[in-house]
Amino acid sequence: MAGSTFGTIFRVSTWGESHGPGLGAVVDGCPAGIPLQEEDFMPYMERRRPNGGALSTKRTEADKVEILSGVYEGMTTGTPISLLIRNTDQHSSDYDALRDVYRPGHADYGYDRKYGLRDHRGGGRSSGRETAGRVAAGAIAAKALSMLGVSFKTEAAAIGGIPFAESSRIEELLADCRSKGDSVGSEVLCTVHGVPAGIGDPVFDKLDALLAEAAFSIGAVKALDIGCGRRAALLRGSQNNDPFVMKDGKAVKSSNHSGGILGGISDGSDIVLRVFFKPTPSISHLQQTVSRSGEERELGIHGRHDPVIAPRAAVVVEAMTALVLFDAMLRNMSARMSAVERFYGHSGI
Ligand SMILES: Cc1cc2nc3c(=O)[nH]c(=O)nc-3n(C[C@H](O)[C@H](O)[C@H](O)COP(=O)(O)O)c2cc1C
Repeated sequence: MAGSTFGTIFRVSTWGESHGPGLGAVVDGCPAGIPLQEEDFMPYMERRRPNGGALSTKRTEADKVEILSGVYEGMTTGTPISLLIRNTDQHSSDYDALRDVYRPGHADYGYDRKYGLRDHRGGGRSSGRETAGRVAAGAIAAKALSMLGVSFKTEAAAIGGIPFAESSRIEELLADCRSKGDSVGSEVLCTVHGVPAGIGDPVFDKLDALLAEAAFSIGAVKALDIGCGRRAALLRGSQNNDPFVMKDGKAVKSSNHSGGILGGISDGSDIVLRVFFKPTPSISHLQQTVSRSGEERELGIHGRHDPVIAPRAAVVVEAMTALVLFDAMLRNMSARMSAVERFYGHSGI
């Protein structure tokens, strides 16, 4: 299967299926000298783990990350880092009834047309569980970024259009969804602080384009706003432009409609991303579908599913954003000859 690798210098390949023995990631191109231990992954993996509450699946996995290579005495060595996360709580028999039907809202039909066969258990590679490998790899990128002064604030921002802060209205909405066997769409807000100005490229690899690829590679993502995003289409230039002013001897913007990126290159303001998720496709509410042999059927999906995706996907958005930014910062080191000369110990002509 092509397309399981992401990044240019800091390259991440994820592997594994939702109901196989395990899944994980291989990170190639990670610089030597980043302090890294298995415990470093836990805070990240915990944020992705279902918490057994009303907002997540009842599947409970330990999600312990085992480092198989690329780390010696607590330091990355510059060689490929292989990360393993074992699957321990898969209930594959839950999916027996789905072997021959195409679940609405899922990849099943397209998979069948493409490959002619599929691992129907839990959606295989299209499962939300695939994101465990990305989160583990993203934790390394986030750690490297923190050494460079870059920090993240990422959270579920809204469910069904209701801001997350209005928890009582959200509880009512979720109770209504539950009683009808339904699910609901959601939003994640990711703010990145400390990215220096000058990161990214002006044409095909615009930072916006790379972040969009990263966000849209996450299951169930249907839209992304950078800064004002789609609202910019409703504004005038005089409203949307961010005026520049001098502060502490540096040019800074006095507003941030751009979301921290202009012309594909970071402008030194916070990078602000809003990622929109569709409702979880697996619902027990009866839906019309067809089987592989072409019979029309009614289908209600039982088993363990997230009723809403953003609460668990927030850390996935953060991990993918970290992968893009650290990779872009590494790529940027060859943008100026003076930086190359400094690296090799020459002062220039
Ligand atoms: C963290 C995460 C958890 C997910 N959990 C579920 C789930 O429990 N049930 C489900 O039907 N879809 C879940 N999804 C969404 C499906 O993976 C996705 O909607 C499906 O593969 C179809 O792909 P598409 O929505 O990108 O077209 C989850 C996605 C993510 C990112």
